Amino acid sequence: MSSVIDLLKAHRSIRKFTDQSIDPALFEDLVKSGQAAATSSFLQGSTIVRVSDKEKRSEIAKLSGNQTYVETAAEFMVFCADLKRAGNYCAEYEMPFEGDFTEHFIIATVDVALMAQSMVTAAESVGLGICYIGGIRNNPALVCELLELPRGVYPVFGLCLGYPDQNPEVKPRLPVSVIMKQDVYNEDGDRQAITEYDSLIREYYRTRTGGGHGASWSEQVSSLLSEKSRPHMKDFLAAQGFKFR
Ligand SMILES: Cc1cc2nc3c(=O)[nH]c(=O)nc-3n(C[C@H](O)[C@H](O)[C@H](O)COP(=O)(O)O)c2cc1C
Repeated sequence: MSSVIDLLKAHRSIRKFTDQSIDPALFEDLVKSGQAAATSSFLQGSTIVRVSDKEKRSEIAKLSGNQTYVETAAEFMVFCADLKRAGNYCAEYEMPFEGDFTEHFIIATVDVALMAQSMVTAAESVGLGICYIGGIRNNPALVCELLELPRGVYPVFGLCLGYPDQNPEVKPRLPVSVIMKQDVYNEDGDRQAITEYDSLIREYYRTRTGGGHGASWSEQVSSLLSEKSRPHMKDFLAAQGFKFR
């Protein structure tokens, strides 16, 4: 790989892994690389639960919609937003706990995403492959139970990590003109650019994923947004202590 830029542009999710394990020293270095990401207000509001227990893995694979790579990847981790660790010190220093505002939720969730993505980049730079698993939010209460996550901590996504046993094509992204605007938000030219992008994505599915569903990007995302999505999340988060004040 010639540069970090080439590496980032070569990303593709991996859903088939060899059974090769990851050297423990390398694994720790990857975690440290993730930790080095910027963190809002120095909160460090992320906790990784590394899941090695086979039964727990199998349970999580099932509840995530039978995503078998959760079981077969060398490593599987659940990335959690964590306001508890810092919140403990409000009690310690006899201060009120006000850490359940929407703003705190955003801070911790962003922290988790940045940490995970830095770890992902580090992992891909040494030839490992990854797949994020949002499927854990199908049943987040069960994930909390399995991993003993306390109030103030919630599972944001899982991450499979291992040596790739496949080499899928890079999935094309939207044109830059659509996702970056100059000074003000506008949709000028987007319709035409997205129509062309839709053809590219249809083609990508037809030819590069063994004749997959062949749906365009706009068909996929409109269908996503036309359905209720994990409606349990609001009550689940409230029960976990995220009150959105
Ligand atoms: C937070 C998050 C959750 C995701 N959850 C899943 C998942 O549950 N299962 C899966 O197979 N892929 C999952 N993905 C992977 C996306 O489907 C994938 O990144 C996207 O289709 C683009 O493909 P690429 O990563 O190969 O470029 C997730 C990605 C993100 C960022």
